[in-house]
Amino acid sequence: MTDLASLNSHALSAIDAAATLDALEAVRIDLLGKQGSISALLKTLGQMSPEERQTTGAAINSLREAVTAAMGTKKAALETAALDARLATERLDMSLPAPEIATGSVHPVAQVMDELAEIFADMGFAVAEGPEIEDDWHNFTALNIPETHPARAMHDTFYFQQSSPIGGGGPAKLVEGQDAQSPLHHPADGPPPRTGEVLRMLLRTHTSPVQIRTMLQQKPPIRIIAPGRVYRSDSDATHTPMFHQIEGLVIDKGIHLGHLKWTLETFLKAFFERDDVVLRMRPSYFPFTEPSAEVDVGYTLVNGKRVIGGSEGWMEVLGSGMVHPRVIEACGLDPNEYQGFAFGTGVDRLAMLKYGMDDLRAFFDGDLRWLKHYGFAALDVPTLSGGVGA
Ligand code: DAH
Repeated sequence: MTDLASLNSHALSAIDAAATLDALEAVRIDLLGKQGSISALLKTLGQMSPEERQTTGAAINSLREAVTAAMGTKKAALETAALDARLATERLDMSLPAPEIATGSVHPVAQVMDELAEIFADMGFAVAEGPEIEDDWHNFTALNIPETHPARAMHDTFYFQQSSPIGGGGPAKLVEGQDAQSPLHHPADGPPPRTGEVLRMLLRTHTSPVQIRTMLQQKPPIRIIAPGRVYRSDSDATHTPMFHQIEGLVIDKGIHLGHLKWTLETFLKAFFERDDVVLRMRPSYFPFTEPSAEVDVGYTLVNGKRVIGGSEGWMEVLGSGMVHPRVIEACGLDPNEYQGFAFGTGVDRLAMLKYGMDDLRAFFDGDLRWLKHYGFAALDVPTLSGGVGA
């Protein structure tokens, strides 16, 4: 009995002294494991007489129970302590400033396109899209630029070498200029091409074909802008083979030049975020508009730099005009019933004017230093109430 009593106190103090779960496990193995001292005592029960079992046996069992219970209590306490310790080290201090992390930025072209969409949405314009690989009917013919028209040469078009039937044919190869034309069937003045017809394909030279696609798909009234990439074989400080345009088109009954002028004035004032933007419309020529006008905005010289506003000098910003009756007709609408205006401008050029870049080529170099300098914060979404210039 004294042995049992001392074993009991020894066991309980060992359990009490265990500082970690591992140490407690070692104590358990020492006492209750296969070779453990309490296990050894339990093994003696078998050889005991019934009387002995009643007394010593019962004492051994209660020793085992007391030790098992003490182990359970200690284990729970150690586990709680371990959890508390972990929670203490993993605590997040929400008041700490955010760490410096690498961030991307919004490219000025994307920013300006968002600004334009915001401004025109406010005037009730939807955004329309068309393919960058276009056929010559949509890019030229339907826009009143027939086969022999000099404007086709002026556009420095990238043609695909081999015309292939729509929806079939092998991969086409891209070549430059007029020589690229092959003596294939051209749906010269006919209706929009259909599957199976042989077409000359090209990279669209302007966003104007989206006018055609929109008029063929939608019924008037139409009010759309069409931003997107366009391609011309041209490269210097102000020209890159790929650049961005935005097209505007309004088709309805009773549309006149006054609507065009108001729309452009409202747009340019909102875009440059100044009320003193002055517009000048110069008579011009585009095959798809009649009459046509080029639009200049006035600038003022401040320390030798051109600042939009006033009328000390003029900068050309867009082409525009009343949609030519032949274009309206090519899209299956009656020009006696419907009129409209259209305009087109370079998005990159607008960005350069507004944000002061002087070399267009840098737009597409992917130089991170340039993007860091001219880029916009990703969360600065342009809004008319907060300002479109972010
Ligand atoms: N498509 C013309 C170009 O790329 C720009 C243009 C001028 C578009 C007049 C128009 C317009 O819609 O009315 O040079």
